[in-house]
Amino acid sequence: MPRSGVQGLLTVLQYRRPEVFRHGQRVARLMDAMARRLEVGEVERARWRAGAWLHDVGKLLLPRTLFEARGPLCVEERDCLRQHVEAGEALLRVYLSPAAFTSLLPFVRLHHERYDGEGYPFGLKGDDLPFEVALLSVADAYAAMREDRPYQGAKTHDQALEELVACAGRQFHPRAVEIFLATLGAPTARYSPSSSALISSMNRSTLSNSRYTLANRM
Ligand SMILES: [Fe+2]
Repeated sequence: MPRSGVQGLLTVLQYRRPEVFRHGQRVARLMDAMARRLEVGEVERARWRAGAWLHDVGKLLLPRTLFEARGPLCVEERDCLRQHVEAGEALLRVYLSPAAFTSLLPFVRLHHERYDGEGYPFGLKGDDLPFEVALLSVADAYAAMREDRPYQGAKTHDQALEELVACAGRQFHPRAVEIFLATLGAPTARYSPSSSALISSMNRSTLSNSRYTLANRM
C-alpha cells in the first residue's frame, strides 16, 4: 500500500472532519509563530506545524455523535473521546513513512499529557514531556477556548489567556505559557501579576531537556 503522507491525511481530515481540520490549522499557525519566536530551524519548524495540524487526527476514527453532543459528555463518552490519541497513532502508522511516523507521533500521542502528571495516556510529568508538545498543548487549549462549541460559547482572547495563566504549573508547563503569551504580544504581568518574565530564560536547553524518548514508550 503506498504511503500517502501528511498531505493525504490532511485531505481526508478536511473532508471527513472539517471542524477538526480547521482547529488543527489554527493550532499549526500558533505553533509556527512560537517556532519563529524561538528561532527553531526550518526542518523542525515544519515538523511542529505538521504535528500541530495532525494532533487530533485520531478523531477521524471516533463516532461522529461524540462531536454533535449538545451538552457535556458523560463518563463513557469522555473515555471514548480519549481514545483519539491511540487512534491517531494507528492512522499515522498506516499513512506515514516510518521516519515521518516517528517524528510526528509525540504530537499525536502526548498532547493530552499535563505538566502535573494528571494527563493521559501515560501521566508524564514536568520535563518528561517534550517541550514542543508542552507548547502544543497550550496552543491547542487556547484555540479550543476561542472556538464556539455546541454547548459552550467561545471565550474572549483575554478570558482564554487568563485561563492559561491560571492553569500554568498544573495543566501547562509555565514556560510554555510564558512563551505563548509573549508570542501573541500579551504582557505576562497583565494576566499574572506575580509572574516575572521568563521568556528571557527560555533557550535551546529547554527544548532538549525533555527526558521522554519514543524508545521508552514503544
Ligand atoms: Fe486532542
